[in-house]
Amino acid sequence: MKVLLTGGAGYIGSHTAVALCGAGHEAVLFDNFSNSRRDVVERLERIVGHRVAVVEGDVRDTGLLQRVLRDQEIGAVIHFAGLKSVGESAEKPLEYYTNNLQGTLSLLAAMRATGVDTLVFSSSATVYGEPEYLPLDEAHPTSATNPYGRTKLQIEEILADVGRADAALKIACLRYFNPVGAHESGLIGESPNGIPNNLMPYIAQVAAGKLTHLNVFGADYDTPDGTGVRDYIHVVDLAEGHLAALEYLAEHGPGDYTFNLGTGHGTSVLQLADAFAEASGKAIPRKVAPRRPGDVAACYAKTEKARDELGWTAKRGLAEMCESTWRFQTQTLNQGTGA
Ligand code: NAD
Ligand code: UD1
Repeated sequence: MKVLLTGGAGYIGSHTAVALCGAGHEAVLFDNFSNSRRDVVERLERIVGHRVAVVEGDVRDTGLLQRVLRDQEIGAVIHFAGLKSVGESAEKPLEYYTNNLQGTLSLLAAMRATGVDTLVFSSSATVYGEPEYLPLDEAHPTSATNPYGRTKLQIEEILADVGRADAALKIACLRYFNPVGAHESGLIGESPNGIPNNLMPYIAQVAAGKLTHLNVFGADYDTPDGTGVRDYIHVVDLAEGHLAALEYLAEHGPGDYTFNLGTGHGTSVLQLADAFAEASGKAIPRKVAPRRPGDVAACYAKTEKARDELGWTAKRGLAEMCESTWRFQTQTLNQGTGA
């Protein structure tokens, strides 16, 4: 099948493109490169061993999307394009609402105009808000605590409405937990701009000597070692989850389906720092800092629905997540070719 990946040059999109090509599908990347580099495409092509089609454009450009969907004879869309920083979303809510909401509405209009009826959407565990119980299952109440989270929740609601109104639409909302790691080649991975907000890229830069130490945001949580617990999932496992979702939609037909994509295991900040030190052979100096506003103590997935219905489970462990991050950091980011 020919699959359009909006935001396909980004962190998760590029890994999903590799997984799609590996399974014999054809990937067409659609990206405005607002948070990715054009040369990621060459690195992607080195991994898959052939050219990959790329369209430079904005998802809010409905006309362009329509032309691409029609001319390229696209069978399904995976919608990664959007802005994703929680902190930034509080400072620039309008950018988040226009990019994420308007972008999705534009895509839905283009899909309707061209008869493309299969959509996989990048949602997030952030839609669960403050956990009322753990592990988080798909039936857990949803809420939003910041504009980024609100865009994810609102898009899920829009997709549910659109799905109810159009009996042909096949939609899967995938709620990612904490994607980390990189492709085993070290050629593609996560390359945040500036000082990273997220834990894994921050630790990688400490190991690389670019940052002096890790600030541990709170060591007094009600968790085994007092630090925040999250469900880190290897980005290659996550990418494979998208393949499973596409296959599921093809098999099950119209509907609006929601799945957690996580491992079901919680890892603390200190455990991740220790695992990274082990994988990289570098010390990760750390200092306890105040809690980060908006953070929860613990968040991890109930994964049975994805296992039972999609036939998908995450296979890669913490060591592989850290080793692949370190390989990308040393082989690509430190060479100045990936950031
Ligand atoms: P990313 O920033 O690396 O990738 C997003 C891509 O979309 C970038 O290449 C960017 O240039 C592109 N883009 C942004 N706005 C666009 C627009 N208007 N038109 C065209 N292209 C546009 O982010 P990612 O980590 O790969 O995340 C992909 C998706 O998954 C996002 O929707 C994000 O909210 C969601 N998600 C990510 C995480 C995470 O931790 N990375 C967790 C949960 C959900
Ligand atoms: C954050 C976002 C979430 C988003 C996810 C993936 C917030 C409040 N939540 O999740 O919406 O889906 O990123 O992009 O921003 N930590 C440190 N020191 C650091 C960085 C993080 O101790 O320098 C701790 C945090 O307090 C947390 C854990 O590490 O306990 C993971 O943090 P992070 O990687 O930012 O992910 P989330 O907060 O889970």
